[in-house]
Amino acid sequence: MAVAAAAVLVLVLLSFSGPLCPRLLSASPSPSPPEPVALTLLACATEKGAVCLDGTPPGYHLQRGSGSGSRSWLIHLEGGAWCSTVERCSDRRMTVLGSSDFMKPIQFDGSGILDSDQNLNPDFYNWNKVYVRYCDGASFSGDAEGRAQDGSILHFRGLRIYEAVIDELMEKGLASATQAFLVGCSAGGLATLLHCDDFSARFPQEASVKCLADAGFFLDARDISGERSFRSAFDGVVQLQNVRKVLPKNCLANKDPTECFFPAELTKSIHTPVFILNSAYDSSQIRYILAPNSSDPNKLWLSCKDNIKNCNSIQTQVLHGFRNAMVNDMKVAQVKEDWGMFIDSCFTHCQAHYGISWNSPISPRLGNKTIAEAVGDWYTGRRQIVKYNDCEYPCNPTCSSLLPTPP
Ligand SMILES: *[C@@H]1O[C@H](CO)[C@@H](O)[C@H](O)[C@H]1NC(C)=O
Ligand SMILES: *[C@@H]1O[C@H](CO)[C@@H](O)[C@H](O)[C@H]1NC(C)=O
Repeated sequence: MAVAAAAVLVLVLLSFSGPLCPRLLSASPSPSPPEPVALTLLACATEKGAVCLDGTPPGYHLQRGSGSGSRSWLIHLEGGAWCSTVERCSDRRMTVLGSSDFMKPIQFDGSGILDSDQNLNPDFYNWNKVYVRYCDGASFSGDAEGRAQDGSILHFRGLRIYEAVIDELMEKGLASATQAFLVGCSAGGLATLLHCDDFSARFPQEASVKCLADAGFFLDARDISGERSFRSAFDGVVQLQNVRKVLPKNCLANKDPTECFFPAELTKSIHTPVFILNSAYDSSQIRYILAPNSSDPNKLWLSCKDNIKNCNSIQTQVLHGFRNAMVNDMKVAQVKEDWGMFIDSCFTHCQAHYGISWNSPISPRLGNKTIAEAVGDWYTGRRQIVKYNDCEYPCNPTCSSLLPTPP
């Protein structure tokens, strides 16, 4: 069988590369690799104060849709952690996460939900796709001004950036979308939760508007030394950058704003359908929330944080505890009828915008569905909603060690 298949393949290759049909060849040149998508800067938005940390204009990459996707829009909010102190935000100005001076065109190809290949991304391949650059350091949500040690201004204008980008896209066709999908990973996944209802409110009733938070379900958990070190860092972001304007009023009425910045609280007040995609053993959350360096002076967790396969049995028990806390925090999302969930137990972070995790032979599967299938089924409503929740690590044989674990 294999030999026969190989022979057929050789024949096919020969017939396309041989000299038999030169006219056919010249008429259909081999497809050139997809072009990187250019950066569009929002130069005029600087008048409204919508600027990156260093005062440069923010930007996005827009790839136009086609055919059945021409009135469908997918807006991806980029991630990249946060800056919680004046010093860190000052340093961030010298990077692509704080200044558009460092931004370049990007390749959507291979990027999962952003891919334009129908086989790899069957439900969204021909949509209008926008990759919004993250350069404010507070999940597109701050609105304040600060001063660096050298006296220069720090612009904390994430909220204005989000608004300026959406306003501009509205003029470019987003306003007449029949389907609109706000997605984001990590700090961008949190931004998606923060803005989901605002985004949805911009469209007429008949448009189908949904959100996907990928690896954005950050836990308000204690670290292995018993401290709430991550909450302290979040507190810095909330205060320094003033994210209060995007927090739910009913939460602010009886809770601390920093508590209201966590997904467990945010999800309670969201009315738009949301898909929560997250690993219960999220590699970044294990590194930065559960076992940050400050909680591990003897570096006993270094190799475990590097690769879950290196964790000893006691560490694995601690990880299971983290998973239980996450599943518990997600109960709110679990009971919302029109919400989707895919909570796997693979050691990874961000799964929708890496082709390898989204839809490949080694993608994580739950109920035998890839993430692309689970999200597509939910978005289109072609199947009854299934909320996928994995068993404890290492039960899932589809969790590949090749999945990305970005910083
Ligand atoms: C934690 O410590 C390790 C080893 O010293 C280092 O490689 C890593 O960058 C540190 N992580 C952070 C977030 O500082
Ligand atoms: C799982 O899905 C694949 C296609 O994605 C299919 O070929 C296979 O038969 C399915 N396995 C089971 C056990 O349903």
